[in-house]
Amino acid sequence: MSAPTTTARLQDDGTGIDQARTPLADLLREEVAAAARWTVPGHMGGRCAPVEALDLLGTRVHAADLWPDQALFTDALLASEELAAQAWGADRAFLLTAGATSGNLAWIFATLQPGDTVVVDSACHVSVLTGLALRAGVRPVWIQRDIDAELGIPLPIDPAVLARVLREHPEARQVVVTSPTYSGTASPLATLADLTHAAGAVLYVDAAWAPHGRWVPGGALDPMAAGADGAVVSLHKTGAALSGAAVLQVGAGLGGHLRRQLVRTVEGLRSTSPLLPVLVSSDLARAAMATAGADGLRRAEELADDLRARCDRVPGVRVLRRDDAGTGPSLLADPMKLVLDVQGTGHTGFAVQRLLRAGGAIVEGADLQRLYLVLPAWVPPGRYPGDLSAQLAAHEALVRAFDAAVAIPPSRGAGLRLSPTVWAASRGRQVMAPAQARAAATVDVPLHEAAGRVAAEHAAPYPPGVPVWVPGEEITEAAVTIVRDVLAAGGEIHGPSDVTGATVAVLT
Ligand SMILES: Cc1ncc(COP(=O)(O)O)c(C=O)c1O
Repeated sequence: MSAPTTTARLQDDGTGIDQARTPLADLLREEVAAAARWTVPGHMGGRCAPVEALDLLGTRVHAADLWPDQALFTDALLASEELAAQAWGADRAFLLTAGATSGNLAWIFATLQPGDTVVVDSACHVSVLTGLALRAGVRPVWIQRDIDAELGIPLPIDPAVLARVLREHPEARQVVVTSPTYSGTASPLATLADLTHAAGAVLYVDAAWAPHGRWVPGGALDPMAAGADGAVVSLHKTGAALSGAAVLQVGAGLGGHLRRQLVRTVEGLRSTSPLLPVLVSSDLARAAMATAGADGLRRAEELADDLRARCDRVPGVRVLRRDDAGTGPSLLADPMKLVLDVQGTGHTGFAVQRLLRAGGAIVEGADLQRLYLVLPAWVPPGRYPGDLSAQLAAHEALVRAFDAAVAIPPSRGAGLRLSPTVWAASRGRQVMAPAQARAAATVDVPLHEAAGRVAAEHAAPYPPGVPVWVPGEEITEAAVTIVRDVLAAGGEIHGPSDVTGATVAVLT
């Protein structure tokens, strides 16, 4: 399939492309009207679905999950992708139904070849690690992120560090960074793009957390405006789309060969039976966000301020704000991520998360000291604040659950903190490429005996999901300490096949 250009397919009358258009939703409206079908999926629009599935998921979900006319679908998908490209300032966009995960994998498979060196942000998501481990012969060089001594969250990438790494590795073909991070740290993307391009490499930004970034004033969360060659956003994270919805974006600078490779790879990796409700929800979410623009985000921020003010009044809970960050505005730059320091409650973040859940309030994530709440980036116009009573009632429910939680005596692991020094020492020497380590013979050893061995799998406390070791790297004492402390306090480590964390797979 050749890459159509936005202006060729969508008629721009000079006043701009109409972002209110929703080609996939229009197609679905036509298709659901058909009286009968004999196509996949076999639930036949819900007529042959288990009654429990209809009760729980609703008849509309089944009716919308259909296989449309192929030619009409291809046309509608391309038109919707062109609108998405225009909305996010990209040259080309792909709508994905398996999350930013599939965007990261497609990007790595398409743009890196065996023997390539790639500079990778240590705050990368597990999907990037998986891509690197599966792409044989690719050699990652890591940019280690320090954490803020006071707030304990990852600092932005220092351009001087990237410049040094690129000087030391003039063969590097690509730079992959995460911005914003899970905790909302933005890196100076325009400067990173300039440095990367000057070194003859391409810049890819995993912006999964900021589908709203395009409309945040100042451009700190807008990879395409910064000159990135590729980026991905998870439209389901703070946008209004269904789970799995993501947009892979291609910048104008990505050349012909790599671009063709990307088109082929995305086509190859996407299912031949995509979940239409997810694509339609992407179409509608894009239209909603792009037409509301900065106004929509302002309403979302007002709602966020209401929640911040309420959390501020809970004893022992501290709302982290951009102004608290001694290192400048790039920490906590994502307005849609609410980070609460709960050390003052005498509990770990993990314990408060569990207590809140018992009280009926569910938050996105927790670590030793903090809770992370995702806020909705799109607030319907004309409906604020009256019709948002349900959202405001949820704010009250959270505060009630908090009040009950902080009244409970201190919990196991309270007071444990991630030390910046231990963190800085956590990554070990890279002994071999991840793909080579992944294919090697392994043995499981107890966690306390893992230091000094070469890792076969990665391990990342989640959140923030930043690995403390990756396949092919020597495991350090500091990394073992971090894993032990997080597990002791009831947290999660992603990566090891032994999910209890008691043993670690290392090379024989
Ligand atoms: C930085 C980052 N990138 C990518 C992903 C994957 O996103 P998705 O769940 O849309 O596959 C995540 C998920 O949390 C993430 O934190």
